[in-house]
Amino acid sequence: MLLQKKPDLTFADVTPKAVYTNRRKFLRDIGIAGAAAALAGERILSIASPNLTAYATSKLNFVKGPYNTDEKVSSIGDVTHYNNFYEFGTEKGDPAKNSQKFRTSPWTVSVEGEVKAPRKFSLDELLKVAPLEERIYRHRCVERWSIVVPWIGYSLSAILKQFEPTPKAKYIAFQSFYDRDQMPESKYTGLEYPYVEGLRMDEAMHPLTLLCVGMYGETLPNQDGAPVRIVVPWKYGYKSIKSIVKIKFQEHEPVTTWNQIASNEYGFYSNVNPNVDHPRWSQATEHRLGEFFTRKTLLFNGYGDLVSSMYNGMDLKKYH
Ligand code: MTE
Repeated sequence: MLLQKKPDLTFADVTPKAVYTNRRKFLRDIGIAGAAAALAGERILSIASPNLTAYATSKLNFVKGPYNTDEKVSSIGDVTHYNNFYEFGTEKGDPAKNSQKFRTSPWTVSVEGEVKAPRKFSLDELLKVAPLEERIYRHRCVERWSIVVPWIGYSLSAILKQFEPTPKAKYIAFQSFYDRDQMPESKYTGLEYPYVEGLRMDEAMHPLTLLCVGMYGETLPNQDGAPVRIVVPWKYGYKSIKSIVKIKFQEHEPVTTWNQIASNEYGFYSNVNPNVDHPRWSQATEHRLGEFFTRKTLLFNGYGDLVSSMYNGMDLKKYH
């Protein structure tokens, strides 16, 4: 069921008083929460369809990967102009507008923490770790919009396997690039940067978890997380961290950006689950960009046959 947009929705309508009276938290909470309220009142049928090369992308060589959905791929216009990338602003069009001068070369990703021999990868080295595959995945945001994207990359496990972890390595933590000078809009978003995320080791090693370097046949446009991001298709979109510079093996559950802000709303696991509502809106349905009718949301975003065994015996409400 769609949330109904009130005629004059104020922040107080969607947020408990204890939260909105704290200005710092107020700024943070207008992020995902504000966008969800906006989505409630409108359907995004289609956005302009620009040419990807307008974003200085370049062609990639890849083979067809496993697990591809045969659902209709979303338009490039929607996928590159309806984004969450708070470093470049909170509005959906901000990342496309504000990230075009973002410098993504040279780029290094450091793999460190509980491993015998940490090391750094240049982007060229990363591109050679495994053959690039096209993975057409459903991508479901906690705000109830969804898209289908032909990502390009390889299973993150291909890199992780190269390292000899210590017995303490139970989780993988990720960190995004952050530079206030290149990301001046980040000052007004209320989030703390760098953006951080994490997965349990079995989730990070799952073959669906993608180290992603491209989409629609080309390298990633800046607004979609250039030059390298993570994509975890059975989890809400905020787990799919963009523009990563650090991958860390660690003993403890990693701190994550949205969980830090509101742990009751954004859990560590964040598996797509139509049966567990967000405290302020239902997660039972979603709006696929470009479509008029809403769709039922699928448990684990439709990837349950591949991933549900990782959560056997866990209370999915408690570990949301
Ligand atoms: N990664 C960083 N570094 N900063 C962000 O603000 N937003 C997350 C995730 N990764 C975000 C991020 C959220 S909330 C979503 S829904 C997805 O990116 C959106 O990915 P897309 O814009 O490619 O659809």
